[in-house]
Amino acid sequence: MDARPFGSGICRYRNMETVYLNDKFVAADQAQVSVFDRGFLFGDSVYEVIPFYQGQGFRLDEHLARLEHSLRGIQISIARDWKAILTELVAKNGGGNLSVYLQISRGSSGQRSHAYDEQMQPTVFACCNPIRDIYDEGPDSIAGISAIVTADLRWHRCDIKATGLLPNILVMQQARQAGATEALMIRDGLLTEGASCNLFMVDKGVIYTPKRSSEILGGTTRELILELAAVNGIPTQEVDIDYDHLMNADEVWISSSTRAVVPVIKIDDQLIADGKKGPLWARMFELFTRYQRDLMQGGV
Ligand code: PDD
Repeated sequence: MDARPFGSGICRYRNMETVYLNDKFVAADQAQVSVFDRGFLFGDSVYEVIPFYQGQGFRLDEHLARLEHSLRGIQISIARDWKAILTELVAKNGGGNLSVYLQISRGSSGQRSHAYDEQMQPTVFACCNPIRDIYDEGPDSIAGISAIVTADLRWHRCDIKATGLLPNILVMQQARQAGATEALMIRDGLLTEGASCNLFMVDKGVIYTPKRSSEILGGTTRELILELAAVNGIPTQEVDIDYDHLMNADEVWISSSTRAVVPVIKIDDQLIADGKKGPLWARMFELFTRYQRDLMQGGV
C-alpha cells in the first residue's frame, strides 16, 4: 500500500446519517439546537473523540474518565450510560471503524448571559466520522509528516477537553499555510503538544514526552504509548522539552485517538535526524497495532 499522509485533517466523509441529540437518535438533517445554546455562543462545552474499531470502543473507559474530568472541570453535572449510547450510535451508523464525537454543552436558557443558572439542562450531541483502520496496515502505510513550532496561545486548563479551540485552529491553519501538517506549540520555552495531538521525541533510545500538567491534554493514546513502552522494556521519561532538544532528537512522533502514533520527519523546514521514519517509531507502531488487533480479538 502507498504511504499516505496520515491525519491531514481532510477526509472524505461517509454519509453518517444518525446522530444522537438529547436522549434521541435522529437523522442528522433533523437535529436542531437552540441558537442560545451556550456551546454555540460561548464554547461553554466539552467533548471527546473516541475511536471504535469493528463496532467496539477503543480505550473507552479512559475516554469516559477524561470526559468526567472535563465535565467536573467546568461544573456540568450529567449522568448517562455513555457506553451503551455510543455503542448504539455506532451500530446505527453501520458499525465498523468509526470515531465518535461527543459534545456536552451547558445548555440554553433562551438568552445570552455570561452567568448561568446551575439547574440548566445540558445539551448532548454525538455523531460518527470514518476512521482509518491502521491495525491491519504495516508501518510502510504511514507517511512521516512535517510540523511547525509556534506559540501556545491557549488558556491554562488544557487538561479540560473544551470545545473552545480557536488557538488550536489558528495554529493548525498557520501550519497548513507553511505547507506543514501539524502545529507543535511552545510556551515559556517548553514544548507542550500539537494542535490536536500529544508530542513524543526519542533521544538515544529513550522516549521523552512533556510532563502531564494542566498545560496539556492527558491524551489516551499518550497513556497507551507509555504503557506499551513500560511493558516492553523501552525507557520513557516525562520531562520538560525545549526547542533545541526537540530539533536534535533522533525521532519525533505525535499521537492521538484518530491518528495513533505518527512520525514527524521535518520541523520548521529542518529534517529530524536523517528525515526518515525512525526504528523506535516502527517498533511502537507494531506494538500499538498488535494491541489493537488483540483488542479486536477480545484479548486485551
Ligand atoms: N484531539 N492534545 C490535544 C490538544 C488534542 O486535541 C488531542 C486529541 C490529543 C490526543 O488525545 P487522545 O490521544 O486522547 O486522542 C492531545 C482529538 C482527536 C480531536 O480534537 O479531534
